[in-house]
Amino acid sequence: KEWTREERYRVLKNKSELNHLYEINTSSVYRQDYHIQPITGLSNDPNGFIYAQGKWHLFYQWCPWGPVHGLKYWYHVTSEDLVHWTNEGIGLAPDTLFDNKGCYSGSAIAIDDEVYFYYTGNHRNEDWERTAYTCVAKLEDDGSLTKKATPLFAPREDYSEHQRDPMVIYNKALKRYFIFIGARSQDERGCALVYTSEKPLEGWSFAGELHVVGYEHFGGMWECPCITNIDGKDILIFSPQFTKLPGRGDCTNHNVYIVGHMDYETLTFTPESHFRYLDYGFDFYAAQTAANASHHPVMIAWMGLPDNHYPSEKDEWEGAMTLPRRISVEGDRLIQTPVKAIENLRTQTLADNGHMSGAMEMDVTFTGGDVAINLFTKPNGYDGLTIEYDAMYRMITVNKAHMDQRFNTEVFEKLDIPLDEDLMNMRIFIDHSSVELFINDGRYTFTAHVYPTIRENRYTHTDNMDLTIYALGKSVDE
Ligand code: FRU
Repeated sequence: KEWTREERYRVLKNKSELNHLYEINTSSVYRQDYHIQPITGLSNDPNGFIYAQGKWHLFYQWCPWGPVHGLKYWYHVTSEDLVHWTNEGIGLAPDTLFDNKGCYSGSAIAIDDEVYFYYTGNHRNEDWERTAYTCVAKLEDDGSLTKKATPLFAPREDYSEHQRDPMVIYNKALKRYFIFIGARSQDERGCALVYTSEKPLEGWSFAGELHVVGYEHFGGMWECPCITNIDGKDILIFSPQFTKLPGRGDCTNHNVYIVGHMDYETLTFTPESHFRYLDYGFDFYAAQTAANASHHPVMIAWMGLPDNHYPSEKDEWEGAMTLPRRISVEGDRLIQTPVKAIENLRTQTLADNGHMSGAMEMDVTFTGGDVAINLFTKPNGYDGLTIEYDAMYRMITVNKAHMDQRFNTEVFEKLDIPLDEDLMNMRIFIDHSSVELFINDGRYTFTAHVYPTIRENRYTHTDNMDLTIYALGKSVDE
């Protein structure tokens, strides 16, 4: 379907306008059992992730009308354990002059007993010229959000129109708040702009461009910057665009991190080592760590990429969140593991009989040598999503080109995961339209959408492994 601008930017007046689409979307065979997915239409970035008022709050970028990037809302979901999620309704609607064409991505902060959400008001005028304002809203006791009437600041004129995705953080030593904004300079460099204030709701001024040493020319736009301190180290996460990176096929949208040190006085981030991919898979972008959770850091990302298309568009929806992942640092590497409570989803242990069942977890320990695990094969054992490990080169290769439904074929269908050590173990989380691999206790992850057809219902594997397989129950609202 071709969408006109009017269709994409239609304002939602009444929930009942979505009833018909909701029926179509929720009867899709690709609806997930335990991954957050759009109530209708499209979801992209996770926003405003925070633990507050006794539960986890998460929002996602939401276009109600279908699998298309149009008018964006923040849709609100909550959870007590990061596994069971409840739909709470709209968090932010694009209903002011400053955000008239979308409430774009942003982050949360807790200040004493209050929680604030910083987001981008995507304003466009009649000539469709963009002005991206940095706006703020407050979490009320009843779970609703109230916007501050005016933005905290307007975009800078000496950068391109692409300035968005505020990440807010408090620096105790300097007793100041900082906001990082993802940006594209006039000469098309990707970068982050830094603003600072002594107070969260007023007095903001431009402090300068973040200097990430060695990354002065790295991509053409940095979306969704996120900075977090874990175990005494600063982790800078961002999504560079308009560049190809090693081992990432023809993809020009990436999500990377750098472990290093952030100096808030000089606005300099000094890397300890080279950047790394947050995830080696086909569909992972715009990751955000939870605010206010320094003792148990958690990260979540959009399972998807800008400019990509997915087979669930036939059922008029697309997008999902990854599993929330506990993160820790080991040297210059981020370790990601599914939150412990995910184990409560196990409904039964399954025999290793070669049959896939909708939502399942495979815990695999390897006993050495080359390995192959082929998921979603046809009944004859052929094709499917292949996961192969070459022990000599310590390289895992994941290939989705032999699935019945191929998509984003011009970006990549086959990717490598180079390991620094032998392959020891893998946890595989399968939902109705996704696979997430956690390799060697979370040292490497691989996230992919996959849309098996009815006949792609088996799996095969080589003998050199021990498997425990669980069926998983449902944990997200429809
Ligand atoms: C990243 C992004 C953000 C923007 C949002 C709009 O996927 O483009 O930069 O705020 O999505 O939905």
